Amino acid sequence: MANIVIVGAQWGDEAKGKIIDYLARGASMVVRYGGGNNAGHSVKVGDQEYSFHLVPSGILHPHLKCVVSSGTVIDPLVLASELDELSARGISLQNLALSPSAHLILPYHRLQDQEEETLRGEERIGTTGRGIGPAYADKASRTGIRLGELTNLPRFRELLFNALVHKNLLLTKVYGLDPLDPETVYKEYADSAHKLIPYIKETTSMIAETAQAGGTLFEGAQGSLLDIDLGTYPYVTSSHPIAGGACIGTGVGPTLIDKVIGVSKSYTTRVGAGIFPTELLNDTGNYIREKGREYGTTTGRPRRCGWLDIPVLRYSSMINGLSGLALGHLDVLSGLKEVNICTAYRYEDGTCIETLSENWTSAGVPSPIYETLPGWEEDLSDIRTLEQLPVNARRYVEKIEKMLKLPVVTLSFGPDRDQTIVLDHTLHTQRRSI
Ligand code: IMO
Ligand code: MG
Repeated sequence: MANIVIVGAQWGDEAKGKIIDYLARGASMVVRYGGGNNAGHSVKVGDQEYSFHLVPSGILHPHLKCVVSSGTVIDPLVLASELDELSARGISLQNLALSPSAHLILPYHRLQDQEEETLRGEERIGTTGRGIGPAYADKASRTGIRLGELTNLPRFRELLFNALVHKNLLLTKVYGLDPLDPETVYKEYADSAHKLIPYIKETTSMIAETAQAGGTLFEGAQGSLLDIDLGTYPYVTSSHPIAGGACIGTGVGPTLIDKVIGVSKSYTTRVGAGIFPTELLNDTGNYIREKGREYGTTTGRPRRCGWLDIPVLRYSSMINGLSGLALGHLDVLSGLKEVNICTAYRYEDGTCIETLSENWTSAGVPSPIYETLPGWEEDLSDIRTLEQLPVNARRYVEKIEKMLKLPVVTLSFGPDRDQTIVLDHTLHTQRRSI
């Protein structure tokens, strides 16, 4: 099997977990390459539902190696409890490996994240409040503490105590909070360290070796439009969710990546603030939210909902070098008389563009130009072949392929494993090209 990056093509929550779980059957390794427990990846198997925040969505397949790589940020308390939960449900963790180079999210990161959001007031980003931004900021400032330090607890203690000298000044003098007690924090984190230590391994060479042989899935978290450099800054996360992030976040060279599959809903959602040209603040938006159960897996927040945005997907295809699109949630649009697709944007001065501009802040918020297609009434939850798909739903999919000049490789109609049509059967079988 090829080495494939699975990337969120929109603003996150595209149901990447489901496609990872599907492709995992033919793979030998799944690697989470960025972000932290701001992610919520759901996988449904029969009547069992799993929600992964840090552990790769391939963990349900016992034959797979599952790696959380150097590009991620790890909250040890959250990861330890995620591992406990999975063990309690009988999921084997023996093939799990955690990179010692991943940075730790510590309690002051969470406090900083939340306090900074409060200070931003109206300008708040709408972060998940999990400490993601401050942990990546410390990494970039070279003041972070890495997961590998937990394997030497006296050294971790020293690093933590040193960090808290500075962080307690910040908490008390800037935010007016109580200081954190170093000994209490240390005890709590040392406890979780004992649970994580067995999984901390040299992962960079492990990933490289497996990728050489093929069959590695790189599990993107968040979405391309949330990328720190190429997303809708500042309303972004602090990592590189784009396909290139798979290289940066694992140490795998670009020549080892064979395919990049973008995951997209058949409409658009976004959590948190920032530009959303096709947002529907009306009954149709509410219909999509309720029918699609568009509430956050991580924070429970209602997601903003809107029509499919082709300028966003064209941009996403460009910055990821997409080979194909895994299109999901088509069932949610059933029952709408008409469906709109945003084909281009028009700005106040009359200029039109077909691809989201990198310079979106200075250009102002554009109005979407829509093409209206007839909807379909039929419930799609039992569709298993392309032929069974109502003609209008098929036209909708074909329209998307044509506008993006991209093949739709899988179609999904619900969270169940069998609510999927695979259009590109080479996904499982294709061997590495080199
Ligand atoms: P998955 O992997 C959707 C959003 C937050 C916020 C912004 C910054 O489930 O697709 P952060 O806490 O990362 O600093 O928040 O990014 N965000 C996500 N939105 N899905 C996600 O992950 C997200 N991870 C972060 O809502 O707007
Ligand atoms: Mg999410």
